[in-house]
Parts: sequence; structure tokens; C-alpha cells
Amino acid sequence: MYRYGRTKRTRKRKQTREGGIFVSTELISLCKWMKVESNKHGFRWKCHLCPAHFSDTGRGMMTKSRLFPGDLLISIPRPLLITVETVLSSEIGEQVKCKNVKFTRQQLLSLFLLQEKNKGNNSFWHPYIFVLPKTLETFGNFSPREMTLFPPRLQIAVKSRMADMKQAYMEVRNFWSGEEIEYSQFLWAWFCVNSRSVFYRSAGSEFVREDGNHLALAPYLDLLNHSVGAQVEAGYNQESGCYEIYTGGTYRKHSQVFISYGNHDNYHLLVEYGFTLPDNPNDVFQVEYNDVLNAALSLGVDNMEKKKEIIQQQSFHRQLVCSMEGLSWNLLLVTRILAMNWTELEQWKLVLTGFAMSDRNNTLSRQIARTFLTKYIKQNQDLITKFDTPLSPNTVESMVFSIVQTERNILQLTWTSVT
Ligand SMILES: C[S@@+](CC[C@H](N)C(=O)[O-])C[C@H]1O[C@@H](n2cnc3c(N)ncnc32)[C@H](O)[C@@H]1O
Repeated sequence: MYRYGRTKRTRKRKQTREGGIFVSTELISLCKWMKVESNKHGFRWKCHLCPAHFSDTGRGMMTKSRLFPGDLLISIPRPLLITVETVLSSEIGEQVKCKNVKFTRQQLLSLFLLQEKNKGNNSFWHPYIFVLPKTLETFGNFSPREMTLFPPRLQIAVKSRMADMKQAYMEVRNFWSGEEIEYSQFLWAWFCVNSRSVFYRSAGSEFVREDGNHLALAPYLDLLNHSVGAQVEAGYNQESGCYEIYTGGTYRKHSQVFISYGNHDNYHLLVEYGFTLPDNPNDVFQVEYNDVLNAALSLGVDNMEKKKEIIQQQSFHRQLVCSMEGLSWNLLLVTRILAMNWTELEQWKLVLTGFAMSDRNNTLSRQIARTFLTKYIKQNQDLITKFDTPLSPNTVESMVFSIVQTERNILQLTWTSVT
């Protein structure tokens, strides 16, 4: 399984060291292949990076020289990108056209990976496919035991993604004419695409089911790991005919270079990419609107219909979260509106100034917050007791434990802010 250090995988390591970091022979082969194939297609291979293993993140990309903002990190020529056009012009694409079916881009790329993997050494893409993780830490592989440790919202997210993927698998299985595709094989391909693809806009086609998810696989470039603060400019450059990434940061020679996959919290990173970040600044605790309403009702708050009307009309019921800074702005507004008496309600807009309407309103709104927080703190405590500590590092269980601990910290800090 892929973990931070990809520790469980046995790989042949080259006996030399680069920048103090071992590099495997298959990665060196990929690097040579990229260079040769780029030249063959009339492109000069431009890359300041080389693959390396790092103790904290596992395999990633290291810079061969000092880098400054605006420097080109890597440039992948169009013929070495796996796009929807690549797929539709391959054998699998011919079958798609012949059977006149429509697939999403993710399904098409997954099918392509499966087809090319089955060809082994005979695939043009073999040097790339060979370095793809053999197994992945994905929601498709989470065990029933692991699932019981997930906070409720994470469980819902995982189940919903699993349902999407199973549906995609069924469609692909019905289409595939060769030996039956096993679910585990599809899972592998699907998650390679899910966790490694770049945004690449491609024209529509009668064989592509539009879902707005424009994807391509960019071999070699997809060895770049994620960091929250990484600044990059990335995209396909029509003029050069390459997918390019420029850095907005500065890097020392031989340090790991990162890109940002987006402002994702650890729920998203775990579900979509199979890893979490320690101290992820995007982590928040999502509060259910219904829990806030129920808290108010349990405290005997009246005029609920009028209050709900204001809240929903203004969309204050969206983005109800707690963070290390306490209640989000919308959550604060909602608790204060729910705590209003009729006179205050008539001039509810005053709440937007950020001041509490009255001492009574301030006290009641905090009481509402404490009521729903009590429920969440209890849920969180119950969850924490389910973990068998000490936990082995770099397992799904340890990643989820760190998520649950972060949530405990957020809830405790928020509790303090409303007492
Ligand atoms: C696009 S790939 C990056 C290269 C990947 N590390 C590899 O060895 O092929 C994305 C995957 O890398 C891993 N990854 C990315 N950023 C990471 C990070 N900061 N810490 C740990 N793993 C990370 C996750 O497994 C993720 O699904």
C-alpha cells in the first residue's frame, strides 16, 4: 500500500546516491525514456528536477539546481501526455467508437491505463506504467474496521465516492470485451487517474460524457508531491506544445520541490489522494445547519420560521464551520440571529456590524453554540476511544487518528471561545 514512505514496497535501488537520496533504476529508465521520446518528437527535454525518495513524503521530485520564482520546473511535450485524444486514437478508443458508447474522461483514461498495463513490455507507455504505484491507499481499499473509525462526515464522503466509482466500474465492465476486468484492477487505474492527473482542457466528443472534469496524465510530472504553500503556474502552453509548470517559490539545490493540488483539507486529501498533511491549515470542523437549529430549539428559542427565512435567504447557512479561530463568520451570524428576540429580529441587519445586539443575545447565542458543540465533543471523544493506541505510523488508522485529534483541538478551542 502506498504510505508516506512507500515503505512496504520492494523496489530495486540504484547503488549510487544523489543529494543523499536513493533513486530506483526504473525511475532512471523513465527519465531516459522521457528525454529520448521528447527528442524524437522534436522537443528539447527541459526539466530541472529528478525523482528522489524523501523521508517525510516518500517518492517525490528533487531540484538539481537552486530555483527562483519564475523558473521552469518541468515541461512535458504533448506527445507524452495521455489525453482523451490519445485514448480515442488507441485500440481501446476504436472499440469505444465501434460500440458507440460514451464514457467520462476519467473512465477513458482508466481504461487506457488498464489496456496499456496488460500489454506489459509491449506498451509504448511501459516505462511510465512501470513506475506507477502498484497499490494505492484509497477509499476503495479502506477496510470495514478503518471505516468505523471515520468521523460521520468522512464516512459519508467515502461512501459517496465509492458509489460513483462502482457505477463507473459497472459501465466499464459491461463494455470491456476481453478477459473480465477485476474490481481491484479498475480501482488501481481509477485511483492512478484520480490522484495523478492534471487539468487539461480537451474538446468535446460524441464519445465523451461531459462532467466538466478535464483531465490528462502527465508522466514524470506526476511525481511532484503536494504542499499547502507551494506556488506554481501550471498549464498547457499552446505555443510550445507542452504542459509546463513554473515555480513561484525559491528552492535550495537538492531540496524537494512541491506543487499545490489545491486548498484541500485532510478529509479531501485522504479520500482523493490517500494521504494527510500534519498541521493542515485548511482543516476545519464542518457544522450541520440542522444541529444548530436543533440546539436553538432545545433552548426554547421562538420565531424559528422567520429566523430560518432570513438565514436561508441570505445563505448564512452555508459554510458553517469551526476552525482554530473558533466559529466561522456565518456560524456566528446564525447563532446570533437564532438568539434574537422579536425587536432585534426587526433590525436583524445590525448583526452584520459584528457586534452582539444585546447582552441577552450574546449569552443565548453562545449557549446555542455550546449546545451543538457538546454533541460534537461527545461524538469526538467516543471516536477517540475506538483507536488502539499506540498506532503504527503511516497507516490509514494513524492518519484518521490525527484527523480526529485535530477535530478535538478545533472543538476545544471553539468551546473556549464561546464560554
Ligand atoms: C501525483 S502523485 C505524486 C508522486 C507520488 N509520491 C509517487 O510516488 O508517485 C500523488 C500521490 O503522492 C502522494 N503524496 C503527494 N503529496 C504528498 C505529501 N505531501 N505527503 C505524502 N504523500 C504525498 C500521495 O500518495 C498522492 O496520492
